[in-house]
Parts: sequence; C-alpha cells; structure tokens
Amino acid sequence: MNYSPKFPVKWVKFMVMILSIVSTGIAAGWTDIPRLSPTRGIIMEDPDLLSSAAVSDDLQTCYYPQTLDHFNYQPQSYGTFQQRYVMNFKYWGGANNSAPILAYLGAESPLNVSLTAIGFLNDSAVSFNALLVYIEHRYYGKSIPFGSREEAFKNASTLGYFNSAQAIADYAEIIMHIKSKLRAFYSPVIVVGGSYGGMLASWLRLKYPHVALGALASSAPILYFDKITPSGAYYSVVTKDFREASESCYQTIRNSWSVIDKIASQPNGLSTLSMIFNTCKPLTKSSELKIALKNMYALAAQYNSPPRYPVTVICRGIDGANETQDILSKIFAGVVAYGNLSCYINQQTNESETTEGWRWQTCSEMVIPIGIGNGTMFQPAPFNLTSFIQHCKTIFGVLPRPHWVTSYYGYKTYSPEIW
Ligand SMILES: *[C@@H]1O[C@H](CO)[C@@H](O)[C@H](O)[C@H]1NC(C)=O
Ligand SMILES: *[C@@H]1O[C@H](CO)[C@@H](O)[C@H](O)[C@H]1NC(C)=O
Ligand SMILES: *[C@@H]1O[C@H](CO)[C@@H](O)[C@H](O)[C@H]1NC(C)=O
Ligand SMILES: *[C@@H]1O[C@H](CO)[C@@H](O)[C@H](O)[C@H]1NC(C)=O
Ligand SMILES: *[C@@H]1O[C@H](CO)[C@@H](O)[C@H](O)[C@H]1NC(C)=O
Ligand SMILES: *[C@@H]1O[C@H](CO)[C@@H](O)[C@H](O)[C@H]1NC(C)=O
Ligand SMILES: *[C@@H]1O[C@H](CO)[C@@H](O)[C@H](O)[C@H]1NC(C)=O
Ligand SMILES: *[C@@H]1O[C@H](CO)[C@@H](O)[C@H](O)[C@H]1NC(C)=O
Ligand SMILES: *[C@@H]1O[C@H](CO)[C@@H](O)[C@H](O)[C@H]1NC(C)=O
Repeated sequence: MNYSPKFPVKWVKFMVMILSIVSTGIAAGWTDIPRLSPTRGIIMEDPDLLSSAAVSDDLQTCYYPQTLDHFNYQPQSYGTFQQRYVMNFKYWGGANNSAPILAYLGAESPLNVSLTAIGFLNDSAVSFNALLVYIEHRYYGKSIPFGSREEAFKNASTLGYFNSAQAIADYAEIIMHIKSKLRAFYSPVIVVGGSYGGMLASWLRLKYPHVALGALASSAPILYFDKITPSGAYYSVVTKDFREASESCYQTIRNSWSVIDKIASQPNGLSTLSMIFNTCKPLTKSSELKIALKNMYALAAQYNSPPRYPVTVICRGIDGANETQDILSKIFAGVVAYGNLSCYINQQTNESETTEGWRWQTCSEMVIPIGIGNGTMFQPAPFNLTSFIQHCKTIFGVLPRPHWVTSYYGYKTYSPEIW
C-alpha cells in the first residue's frame, strides 16, 4: 500500500481546512484535545478528488434498532434508537462462497461525511469479492438516541450512553445481524477504521474476536493514554514535519510567538495584530491568534496528504514572502497560502455537532494527554490533567475518567508506571 509519511493516502483524498476551530465559545483552546477523525473540521471539498461513493447507486442505507445500553438490565437500558449503516453488495461473492465482509467502523463524524472520503474499502472490495458495510457511530449523524439531538446532548444523564464500549458493542451487534440476515455465517469479517475509528477497530478485535477475524487500524493512537506515550509526542511530530519541509519556515514559526507576545503587550497591540492578520473580529486576547495558528499548523501536519501537501503550502507562503517583510507578515502569508479567505482567525462559526460530540468523549474517557514539550516550534504548554478535569467538570458536570481506557483495553505491560 501507498502510505504518505503520516496518514494513509486513501483515507483522506483531499481536504483543505479553514482556520476556525476551537477558539470559540466554551472551548478553552489550549486544553482541547485535537480531533482525530479521518475527515475533520470545515472542509472545502475538491469535487475532483471526492470519491463518488457517497452518491453511488450501489449503496443501500439501512437502520438498525439499536439497544441504548448493552451493559445492564435496568428498564431504561432497553430503550432503542435507529442506528444508520450502509451496505454495498456490488463486489460481494456471496454467502455461499464465504466471501468476506469489510466493515468500516464510523468515527467521530456523521457517516455520510466520511463516505465521501474513504476509498480504501471500495478499492479493496474488487480483489476480495467483499461485501462493504459502513456503520455510523452512536450520537453522530442520524444515529441519535433519545429522539432528538437536543435531548441526547441535554446533560450527562443522556450523554452517559455515549462511549466507546457501547459503540463497539453496537458494531458487533450490527455485524452479527447482517451475517445472520444474509446467512453469511462463514464469511470472515475484517473491521476497518481510521484514527479514533481505527482505535475502535482494534478494540473490537480484542473484545469480540469471534466477530472480527481481523482489524485494520489506520493512524490509530491506541497508546496515547496516560503516560504510555510522552505527552509532547504529537507536537514534536508536527514540528518535525515542518522542519523537514523547510528549515527556514520552521525557524520563522518558532520565532513568531515571542513577536506576537511582544506586540500584544504594547498599547493597541491587539488591534495591530488584528490588522496584520486581517481578523474577522478584533482580537480580544493574543491567545485567540496563537491558538488559531497552532491549530492550523497541527491540522496541516495531521492531514498532510497529496495532492496538496498543506505543510508545504504553508511553508511556501512563509518562505515566499518578501525577505524584507517582518516576521508576522511572513506568517500571515502562510495563513493566506493555506486558505485564501476574506478574513481570518476568529470567524463567527457555529460549533459543529461533531466538535460537541468529541468534546464529550474527550471529557469522559478519551482523555488523550497531548501537551507541548520543550524543543518544538511552539511555546511549551504541558498537558495539565488537573485543569483539564476542572474544565470538563465545568462543561458537563461530571469528571473524566482518564485511566479507564488503559484499564479496560490494556496497554504495554512493560510500561511500569503509566499513571
Ligand atoms: C470502486 O472501485 C472500483 C474498482 O476499483 C472503481 O472502478 C469505482 O470507481 C470505485 N467506486 C467508487 C464509488 O469509488
Ligand atoms: C446457496 O446455497 C444454498 C444451499 O445449497 C442454495 O439453496 C442457495 O440457492 C444458494 N444461494 C445462491 C445465491 O447461490
Ligand atoms: C451529510 O448529511 C447532512 C445532514 O443530512 C447534510 O447536511 C450534509 O450536507 C451531508 N454531507 C455530505 C458530505 O453528504
Ligand atoms: C438531565 O435532565 C433531566 C431532565 O431535565 C433531569 O431529570 C436530570 O436530572 C438531568 N441530569 C443531570 C445529570 O443533570
Ligand atoms: C520587497 O520589498 C521591497 C521593499 O518594500 C521592494 O522594494 C521589493 O520590490 C520587494 N520585492 C518583491 C519581490 O516583492
Ligand atoms: C487571494 O484571493 C484574492 C481575491 O480572489 C486574489 O486577488 C489574491 O491574489 C489571492 N492571494 C493569494 C496569495 O493567492
Ligand atoms: C448559527 O446558528 C444560528 C441559530 O441557529 C443561525 O441563525 C446562524 O445563521 C448560524 N450562523 C452561522 C455562521 O452558521
Ligand atoms: C522544559 O524547560 C523548562 C525550563 O528550562 C524545565 O523547567 C522543564 O523541566 C523542561 N521540561 C521538559 C519536559 O524537559
Ligand atoms: C495545573 O492546573 C492547576 C489548576 O488550574 C494549577 O493549580 C496548577 O498549578 C497547574 N499545574 C501546572 C504544573 O502548571
């Protein structure tokens, strides 16, 4: 298979992200855990690169009456909701031939959005005569319990059923249902996912080995919990990507933060920064700008895929600026190169349902401790579990369980002190 340095090509065929994320509303910014989904943020779709899978006549959309709570027998647990899944029989060799089933496990986004970006299953189906199944994650898209999104997201009582263990059980149940309906008892199942969805794929294989013969987990950070992976790893890799693309670009970015701080501390400094960066609304604090830039660099690295290679695009903008220009004008040239808009940084955007769902997940069990260590192109910002927990308590009224993932799914037993 053909892999880009960080992310398999097939997962993300396009994607131009706009600088708009997490700097609004209740998000504290620095404490937000980046989303991991194969598709992410606000996307300007390039029609040439989109898979036509989403609109293909070969896809059949179905709904499964899913159990609200798989893990206890209280009356309310028996409630159900309609869970969306999509099947493509075009390439399937049939139950009688024990032809396999490739099951894509949805991540933290509506299924129809992912379908436009995932070509891998379709591309593999031909060689394996496989049946393709795509299943949406609960609380995203059309798979919403409690009758409405508003009700489902009302408070921790209704959000409490929103976790990975329930999601994996949902997937296992739907796969068994499909096998039974098609009488495909001997068809091996391979579960496939990217990023958070890849974590679910590997965890499903661990927990339900009789359901899935194998899992393909792409870019799935299953060991980025507790202290198994150094918390600075993510931004070290982002830095490395930029440095590999261009040493001078890396240096410019590295030197820019203190310049921002210096200007911000001067009288009218924030309006100067607002002007330099052509912000949509005047900046009220310099962190709005710094978080937006940090997120832009991180997104560019996380989705640094062909044909655009956004890291190269940003660096070309920064390096291409007139030598005589000041450092922040160079940074701004990088911002414009990434996405040429009418204004930047603090756009008025409504929070997407996906952002809200992922925030609940990171504030309950998916506590991925991503901080910024020394020696990157960013200002250091260690992950502070205490303040993260406080932040989550304020938003949702319940405490995260940062150690549950390692307890429940396991970790390397030769990591002696992971807490
Ligand atoms: C699926 O794969 C086949 C064979 O590689 C290709 O011809 C077709 O265009 C693909 N369909 C979609 C919807 O991506
Ligand atoms: C599969 O095999 C069964 C039992 O031999 C047969 O009744 C059925 O028609 C076959 N199905 C197909 C699609 O060939
Ligand atoms: C996915 O579905 C939502 C709601 O039905 C719709 O607003 C959105 O445009 C769809 N996205 C894609 C890429 O099909
Ligand atoms: C959530 O809202 C429902 C209905 O308004 C209420 O009965 C329940 O106590 C609330 N739960 C929490 C944790 O606030
Ligand atoms: C760079 O800026 C200087 C001074 O403003 C100007 O004279 C020169 O033409 C510019 N060069 C380019 C390539 O734009
Ligand atoms: C950005 O878009 C404007 C208007 O379309 C255009 O004039 C300008 O050259 C573009 N800038 C860059 C750097 O592409
Ligand atoms: C945000 O949501 C409000 C209320 O639903 C709506 O009136 C407004 O147009 C939305 N703004 C944007 C930028 O989508
Ligand atoms: C980073 O540098 C600071 C100041 O030099 C030091 O106190 C801290 O221990 C360093 N952190 C790491 C993770 O090396
Ligand atoms: C972490 O955050 C807490 C609460 O905001 C604060 O009291 C503490 O000093 C912080 N720890 C570090 C190492 O910055």
